[in-house]
Amino acid sequence: MNIPKIQWYPGHIAKAEKKLSEVINRVDLVIEVRDARIPISTSHPHLNQWIKNKKHILVINKSDMISPNARNNWNKWFKKSEIYPLWCDAKRGIGIKDINKTTTESRLSIDNKRLSRGMRIRPIRALTLGFPNVGKSALINRIANKKVVDSARKAGVTRNLRWIRLDSGIDLLDAPGVIPPNLEDQNSALNLAICDDIGEAAYEIESVALEFIKIISKLNKDKNANISLEIITKRYGVDITKGFESPSQWISDAASKHTSGDRRRMAFKLLEDYRNQMLGKIALEVPIWN
Ligand code: G4P
Repeated sequence: MNIPKIQWYPGHIAKAEKKLSEVINRVDLVIEVRDARIPISTSHPHLNQWIKNKKHILVINKSDMISPNARNNWNKWFKKSEIYPLWCDAKRGIGIKDINKTTTESRLSIDNKRLSRGMRIRPIRALTLGFPNVGKSALINRIANKKVVDSARKAGVTRNLRWIRLDSGIDLLDAPGVIPPNLEDQNSALNLAICDDIGEAAYEIESVALEFIKIISKLNKDKNANISLEIITKRYGVDITKGFESPSQWISDAASKHTSGDRRRMAFKLLEDYRNQMLGKIALEVPIWN
């Protein structure tokens, strides 16, 4: 695959990693948030090392954006490694009860560990972290049951840490930790760009849309991805099923119908329609069984 070069601005990754490690150092419990459409691309190869010795809860958010079959299949796949993700739709508040229950269990387990070592128990500190846009702020607001993350804090404007005391007795940091994308793996970076989970990245939108067309044409064979090329064909009035000539030609044909021939605007429209679920509940990643 000829993947378009996707990059962050120089220095941003190092800065983001430093900020993240500072904040991780202050907590006992890490709530990692991933995107259900790309649960592998929204994981970072160094995360386990960064959160060593911390309690870890894996939340897969945007569960509304993939099919129940896809979720079940991922559960089977994670189970093989004894990982039991919690699925959540932070936009609508679905799955929050289970997350609260699990955080309470984590608190009890940390309390017991401290007591068994003769240490006094103290409030447990927790942090949500994940790639940009996976829904960390929406999740914090749901867990806290009020709007606590504002855009200024999200942008990292304020420096002081603010903690919210939850009913479970946990102090949750009111600003999420942002994991900078792993750009060594450009396949993952492409998925992040398609899903808009990549933050301050630079990429060519038209090439990303062309790759998106290639990915869905191929993934379409896996029923868990839940792709209907017919729905897409119908939406734009341009055939994307078996007989279509090439992704580039498809963009040109769709552009002449919808964006006065402007390919770039058509590329953006296609990706925005995907991101807004206008093309269906499409999973861009499905488990690969060894
Ligand atoms: P972040 O802190 O990780 O950067 O993400 P944030 O919570 O800001 O969420 C990013 C976007 O994803 C928001 O949409 C938010 O509404 C949406 N979102 C969060 N959780 C879910 C979910 O479970 N399902 C779905 N479908 N969407 C979710 P936005 O367009 O940027 O803003 P808005 O639509 O809320 O105005």
